[in-house]
Amino acid sequence: MVGPTRFCKVTVFDGSGAPGFVADVEIDGDRIVTVGSATGVEADEIEGSGLALAPGFVDVHTHDDLAVMTQPDHGCKTLQGVTSVVVGNCGMSAAPVSDDPLGFSRYPRLADYLRQVEAAGPAVNVGALVGHGTVRAAVMGLKSDRVPDDRERAAMIEHVAAALEDGALGMSSGLAYEPGRYAAHDELVDLAEVVAAAGGVYTTHMRDEGRDLIGSIEESIAVSEATGVALQISHLKASGRDAWGTTAAALAVIDAARHRGVDVMADQYPYTRGSTLLEQIVGAGALDGPSAFAHVQPADLLIAAAPGNPHWEGRTIEEIAADEGVGGRQMADRIVEAEGRNCFVIIDSMSEDDVREVIRHPAVMTGSDGVPGGSKPHPRLHHTYPRVLGHYSRDEGLLELADAIHRMTGMCADRFGFADRGAIRPGAFADLVLFDPETIIDTGTYTDPTTVPEGIRGVWVNGERVVADGAVTGARPGRVIRRPEGQ
Ligand code: ZN
Ligand code: CU
Repeated sequence: MVGPTRFCKVTVFDGSGAPGFVADVEIDGDRIVTVGSATGVEADEIEGSGLALAPGFVDVHTHDDLAVMTQPDHGCKTLQGVTSVVVGNCGMSAAPVSDDPLGFSRYPRLADYLRQVEAAGPAVNVGALVGHGTVRAAVMGLKSDRVPDDRERAAMIEHVAAALEDGALGMSSGLAYEPGRYAAHDELVDLAEVVAAAGGVYTTHMRDEGRDLIGSIEESIAVSEATGVALQISHLKASGRDAWGTTAAALAVIDAARHRGVDVMADQYPYTRGSTLLEQIVGAGALDGPSAFAHVQPADLLIAAAPGNPHWEGRTIEEIAADEGVGGRQMADRIVEAEGRNCFVIIDSMSEDDVREVIRHPAVMTGSDGVPGGSKPHPRLHHTYPRVLGHYSRDEGLLELADAIHRMTGMCADRFGFADRGAIRPGAFADLVLFDPETIIDTGTYTDPTTVPEGIRGVWVNGERVVADGAVTGARPGRVIRRPEGQ
């Protein structure tokens, strides 16, 4: 057990969005003991003048399902101040067993997966969603494009209910992907009803983030209106040149729904480039002409991960094609054939103005959508939080620091039902990040994405220090966060 630690004269941002104030903060064991009034107990002291102390960041949108076990230090997240992650996004979760998109659904029940996470003992806290796509693939197969029959419908409901019983925070969908894209309104409503009854959240990677962005938002809202489920739109963006400039209208649809009492919020990663499966882009016909991704050239696609051919990583498909002496379009097919669902690419897809419009919306929180794997992952995996705080908040002045912190702490903990986290107050868990607001900044680029961000002085999870001086300490105090029963 760790002894008491006192953070002296830090500027405390409590995660609520309230302005910072200078105080001493003491932690003991896994909890925050005092804020402001020193107890006088013997404690390790950390001098914090000029530094900000915030609740550890809660990454509400991750694909860290396996990475928290295979890389339990999880430096990609802790080094940027993240202390908790939500896994199982975009319709894909580790349970139940299926042949689903990323091929990592290997556990019969979510409880089995969560027990494995506990056994692996990661540095960060982990909460999980159950993926609609995984559930659908388990019941109907990956390729079934029809409406579920009564038996299948009942089996899917049972899987979702079982996951919620095991502590799932809610359900995610990935309606742009197979098999999520085969799901119609009624199917989503049947399952969202189960989520709503349990007090969970329904997150969705929408059907179309491009030319039919508005229609997709309306579709998502309709599910919430039919069931009362808390709706979280994942990585809200206007994707593809044809959709640029539509975020104002998209946010107006969200505002109108919120006005009617619909519980809809969203998350965002702070970049103009996206990252997805190459197979998804090729399959959508984006290299052949305008599609939901608009029209993409082989030169626009940078390989982030190609585990079977790591020499392709960090290069564009055009460059690889030139080496191989084939056309770009043909090369894309060859890569998909060789790598299947393991190949992720980075694609220039958003306008800066749209990103700035979304980031300031009061119902939008931060989520990295980082995809672990490959040597050149999208820099959002390692740098999302310092980029929001340093670039967009401090340098660009788009958000007050306290507001930016709120969108990565208290707002997220509230949304996903994390009790006693995302806040600095006596009794809360000692998940903390100490950083220099003058120097915090992302350092990762698309060609050199796995660097360490600057300005993070220390990170604590459940009272134990997991980051010191820009390096992980090796401590792995993370816990599984299960949705509280009867909430
Ligand atoms: Zn997604
Ligand atoms: Cu995602």
